[in-house]
Amino acid sequence: MMLEEYIRSLLPSDEASVVSACAEVSLKIWEEMPRRKAVLSTTNPYGEKQAELDVLSDNLFRKRILETGEAAEVVSEESPPTHSKGKVHVAMDPLDGSSNIDTNNPVGSIFCLFTERLPCPAKYISSAFYFTYGPMLTLTLSSGKQVCRFVVSKREGGYIFTLAEESLKIKEEGEIYSFGAQRREWIEPVLRYVEKLEDRGMKLRYCGTFVGDFNQILKYGGIFGYPATKSKPRGKLRVIYEVLPISFIARAASGYSSNGKNDILSLEPSSLEETTPIYVGSKALVKELESTISREYT
Ligand code: AHG
Ligand code: MN
Ligand code: MN
Repeated sequence: MMLEEYIRSLLPSDEASVVSACAEVSLKIWEEMPRRKAVLSTTNPYGEKQAELDVLSDNLFRKRILETGEAAEVVSEESPPTHSKGKVHVAMDPLDGSSNIDTNNPVGSIFCLFTERLPCPAKYISSAFYFTYGPMLTLTLSSGKQVCRFVVSKREGGYIFTLAEESLKIKEEGEIYSFGAQRREWIEPVLRYVEKLEDRGMKLRYCGTFVGDFNQILKYGGIFGYPATKSKPRGKLRVIYEVLPISFIARAASGYSSNGKNDILSLEPSSLEETTPIYVGSKALVKELESTISREYT
């Protein structure tokens, strides 16, 4: 089935228009990738250096989303919020995994649609989706009940998104673990837990793009973590732009996501910039780590 038909049956029409607009833009970004590899001298609100592709993606997605007339606001990791007259509150990480741009490892774009003005609690998420520009351009989407995936292929007349999987599920146990930051910086319970996973025969796989790493967990089961570290107890990943959408999708795929103590989807972020530690993947593994951290780390 083609994207347009599927999302119109799955989502309210304003949200479907936003998804459809973003899918259009993702093709353009994919096409631009080979010639947009510069690093700029500008920085984003986190003080991080921007890549040309960060800025291009931010501009293209924002412009096209606003053109649908359905957005109430677009908030982005890369620039200040824009407000408009529609009903859909859109949060985006327009280019996830910027450090992979020049190495041709996967990068992505992450979106979260809310029904309330941002920042707001996770209970107001209505749908979430992300693109991965890897060997394949894919769109992974959930309205909260199940998780489906579309893959782009070339047909006469151009590129199209077709449905590849309708009900992605994260296995209860898993094969891989994927943890960011430096081991020596991890808090103790995380360090010991990862040693335990290695003793069980689980293997490390880490690509450095959140959505790329999450894709592996979605396929093989296991656990992704960007932990609390000694120098960054609030982690690195951004609640609104990265953590909430992936946690929403993980839950719809029967997985679980925690900040080490609580369900991420019970969070009530108070600023757009908030970051958090995140552990997401197979429910049994994330719960096990959560109880280790709660027992041993205050
Ligand atoms: P972004 O490119 O949007 O700034 O996100 C990068 C994030 C995330 O994609 C990834 O999981 C993590 O940073 C990688 O961090 P390390 O380079 O510390 O591994
Ligand atoms: Mn990111
Ligand atoms: Mn980004």
